[in-house]
Amino acid sequence: MTTNPSQTSTKRPPSPSILNTSPKKSKPSSPQTMTADTPPTASSFPLPKILTNPSSTPPLLITQGAESRLYKSTYLTPSTPCALKYRPPKPWRHATLDSRLRKARTTAEAKVLEKCHRQGVPVPAVYGMDITQGWMAIEWIDGIPVRVAINSHLNNPQQNDESGIKNLLKQIGEAIGNLHKIGIIHGDLTTSNMMLNPENQVILIDFGLAAQSQSDEDRAVDLYVLERAFMSTHPRAEKEFGLVLEAYAQTFKKGKSVLTKLEDVRMRGRKKSMIG
Ligand SMILES: Nc1ncnc2c1ncn2[C@@H]1O[C@H](COP(=O)(O)OP(=O)(O)O)[C@@H](O)[C@H]1O
Ligand SMILES: [Mg+2]
Repeated sequence: MTTNPSQTSTKRPPSPSILNTSPKKSKPSSPQTMTADTPPTASSFPLPKILTNPSSTPPLLITQGAESRLYKSTYLTPSTPCALKYRPPKPWRHATLDSRLRKARTTAEAKVLEKCHRQGVPVPAVYGMDITQGWMAIEWIDGIPVRVAINSHLNNPQQNDESGIKNLLKQIGEAIGNLHKIGIIHGDLTTSNMMLNPENQVILIDFGLAAQSQSDEDRAVDLYVLERAFMSTHPRAEKEFGLVLEAYAQTFKKGKSVLTKLEDVRMRGRKKSMIG
């Protein structure tokens, strides 16, 4: 798999105990969400220059992840909301390496989003970026995380008809199938890295760990990551995960052989957890 070379170099920082933040791979897939108790924050952190421009809408910090911050702001016109993903400098990292990594990761993520958008895979459009500053502005998805949508279906089964959740799971399978079809591996598939927009469409987000690959093995691992995340986030919907895989298999030619590979990947996963 052609990974972004910059992703591998800091997966294991030399001494995690002295670092005040951990690398992205080790985070649990739920970034700290700002709530009413932790009021946002334009002033809590140093902002990228673009957000200090007096003409821009005051930015609202939505989440603070291990490696990036996500702000809601506007782009070009006050009525065009955007999501601004900013990778702040890491003061503990060597300055030259830090700037190279921030540039490489921002560029890689924006490139993948652009490719997906061009080829009709549902992702936010890229509006603009400044790789030296480490930010990109993308289309604001005015929706809810798929994780929340699934849980609300599970909690209110009578209010939400059964076809609602089936449609949702089918769309997830199709979106991933279309992503894999164009040669991209997401790298961090979870129901938090997908949003449901007001038109009830599933939009894939967070391509910070994405890579280019046409290999069935890489595709199967991508699905396995989602399967594990899904089972632990939505244990009550365990059986319904089959609908995701069914839709995936029907979306592209190699779909069925990827599912066969997925069985191997699961087997390896089980062996590994038995050995410990
Ligand atoms: N385009 C977007 N529109 C609306 N909200 C978004 C958008 N992109 C990200 N978010 C929100 O910000 C959170 C963090 O963004 P994400 O790209 O997943 O970064 P991280 O790498 O920190 O997980 C998402 O889980 C989602 O709630
Ligand atoms: Mg995320």
